[in-house]
Amino acid sequence: MLNFKKVEDLQQYLEDVKQKRRSIGFIPTMGALHDGHLSLIKRAKEETSCVVVCIFVNPTQFNDTADLDKYPRTIANDILQLTSVETDVLFFPDVEEVYPKGLNTKLELDFGQLATVMEGEFRPGHFDGMAQVVNRLLEIVKPNKLFMGQKDFQQAAIVRSMLKQTESNTELIICPIVREMDGLAMSSRNVRLTTENRKNAPKISKLLIELGTKIKRENFDKLKEEFAKEINSLPEFKLEYIDIVDGITLQSVDAYDDSDFIVVCIATWAGKIRLIDNYILKENQD
Ligand code: PAJ
Repeated sequence: MLNFKKVEDLQQYLEDVKQKRRSIGFIPTMGALHDGHLSLIKRAKEETSCVVVCIFVNPTQFNDTADLDKYPRTIANDILQLTSVETDVLFFPDVEEVYPKGLNTKLELDFGQLATVMEGEFRPGHFDGMAQVVNRLLEIVKPNKLFMGQKDFQQAAIVRSMLKQTESNTELIICPIVREMDGLAMSSRNVRLTTENRKNAPKISKLLIELGTKIKRENFDKLKEEFAKEINSLPEFKLEYIDIVDGITLQSVDAYDDSDFIVVCIATWAGKIRLIDNYILKENQD
């Protein structure tokens, strides 16, 4: 695996890749890699011939400085994992490489209501920072395909909108959520859960699946209330939101027949750790 820290060196290499007409697959990450990240790389290996992974803990998308400071940084182990799935290129830049003009180079894009609901409501500024870094990294790498996870459903919807607004040629591929054996969605933050909270966390996915079995016959408000009650009954768990939304517009849906793509999205605190998850309830059916 080649390892670049400088934009210029990476671009010089990728120029050669492009001249040889090899396609570039790109996976932006913040490191602390797990099997969820690796699933994106494996998919990229199947669909493109040069797979570039970026590890960069982007300061502009953290609305909570403690979260930024505590974000796990495990580069030696990350490199082992990247090598195990035969990643072609690692891009591991410093802040100055990504933001040569400083952190305040915000994008002039409008995500409308996509960015104000759910995560947007509880993490102000988060999506601006996320879009800023993804846009900058795409500018550097110019990949044919960009691979992102359904785990961050709203993030993927915003990136889809960004690619459209910037008339980008990059194709977005959204990959399914990879879960632990007990159902907990894999996340770099899971290692920071206390033993007790880790033990209770799989209840999130169990309840999401259970909600899915009732969706055709029960009132959505009642389902959301029941979910909140169950989560809040776990010690140290506090549900931040649950929303049942249209998978494209991310606006709330009130009934099963109101949309042909319905997703339930949640965020909950487990002690000091914030977990998100989602579950597709209906997709492209009649
Ligand atoms: P990070 O949380 O490291 O995630 C990088 C990519 O891995 C994202 O596309 C995310 O959706 C995907 N991913 C995370 N957990 C997953 C899981 N359990 N199953 C499948 N895919 C999973 O998301 C970010 O970083 C940042 O916001 C970033 C896009 C890199 C911009 O800084």
